[in-house]
Amino acid sequence: MNVQKLSVSDYRNFETASFSFDPDTIHILFGRNAQGKTNLIEAIYFLSHLRSWRTSKTPSLIRHGAELFRIEAKVENKGRLESLKLIFSQGKKYLFRNDKPVQTFSNFVGILNAVLFSPDDLQIFSDPPKERRKLVDMELVKLSRSYTNVLGRFNKLLKDRSAVLKAYKPDEVLLDTITEQMIEAQVVLISQRYAFIKLWEAKASEIFPCFNEGKETLHIRYKTCVDPASSPDEMKKQLTQAYQKTRQKDKQMKTTAVGIHKDDLEFYLNERLVTQTASQGQKRSIVLALKVGLCKVIKEKTGQHPVLLLDDVFSELDESRRAGLIASLPDEIQIFITTAEPVSPSWFKRPVRFYTIDHGVMKEGIYDV
Ligand SMILES: Nc1ncnc2c1ncn2[C@@H]1O[C@H](COP(=O)(O)OP(=O)(O)O)[C@@H](O)[C@H]1O
Ligand SMILES: [Mg+2]
Repeated sequence: MNVQKLSVSDYRNFETASFSFDPDTIHILFGRNAQGKTNLIEAIYFLSHLRSWRTSKTPSLIRHGAELFRIEAKVENKGRLESLKLIFSQGKKYLFRNDKPVQTFSNFVGILNAVLFSPDDLQIFSDPPKERRKLVDMELVKLSRSYTNVLGRFNKLLKDRSAVLKAYKPDEVLLDTITEQMIEAQVVLISQRYAFIKLWEAKASEIFPCFNEGKETLHIRYKTCVDPASSPDEMKKQLTQAYQKTRQKDKQMKTTAVGIHKDDLEFYLNERLVTQTASQGQKRSIVLALKVGLCKVIKEKTGQHPVLLLDDVFSELDESRRAGLIASLPDEIQIFITTAEPVSPSWFKRPVRFYTIDHGVMKEGIYDV
């Protein structure tokens, strides 16, 4: 997958700008601080996820003084050219695919599939579990239509169950029906989460030696309410028992204690929890291995790599880790790297294009700014 062309209007500090990019090429976006480097890759990310990772307040992305922003891209997806357009105006997103309006977000998310590394990602180990679940859900939603549908169903059932539990006298029959449907949905979701996490662990582990000469091991543990490796029938049995056990308490607390809405991931370095032992440098290596690993998972599942966005990746990366990262990058992947520090073309053994960003204006080449 490649972004061939990107145009933005009134997005952050970009007034109107249009860029063309090369397939399977590394694009280095160089510039001083606060010039718009991250803004540019944020625009690509926004078109992929329909939100920013930096803020949940989409109106703040509109250039100061403007009324709406627009992001457009021509994306090569499995040999086909897709034209994507998004307009954000008066609190609403208007989506177009090949000039036709798209009504549902799920018909748009992932057509441009972008994977991001940002320095904020180092928080993922200490963030609340919700953030780690979001990470998995975000990827599975892009990869699997059935996952998206079943997750939507589960979230609705969870709300319904909560409403029943909050009643003065909960309707026992209704509670049974909802619980049963929730169990069915969770068997599907747990199986898909488990398979995804196993594959992700395998791909990240393949890459991890690039960062540490093979001296360290990486593991991801999927923590859920049942044994995720068991058969669907067995999982169903375990879930049924768990819900029977907590039914009384759920009625007292008026909330659902057991289920995939409580899932979590644990990351282990050399069999020890990353949160307990890893240094900042090790955490950075793990996150990078996870992100590049994710690109490989997507390649295996969809037949093509996503676009990789690396924000400020070289700051605080020592020379050997930097070389490790570059060595771990697949050849056939389009990459955007922002940097405030000079980058040498000799670091890469593949096509690289250089751009300089200065006050929301991007020009090809390296300029002393
Ligand atoms: N809505 C907005 N309108 C205009 N400028 C904005 C808006 N949001 C952010 N900016 C500007 O964008 C710049 C930061 O861009 P960013 O891409 O984060 O910088 P960097 O080049 O360091 O990655 C700042 O100058 C900030 O004032
Ligand atoms: Mg930045």
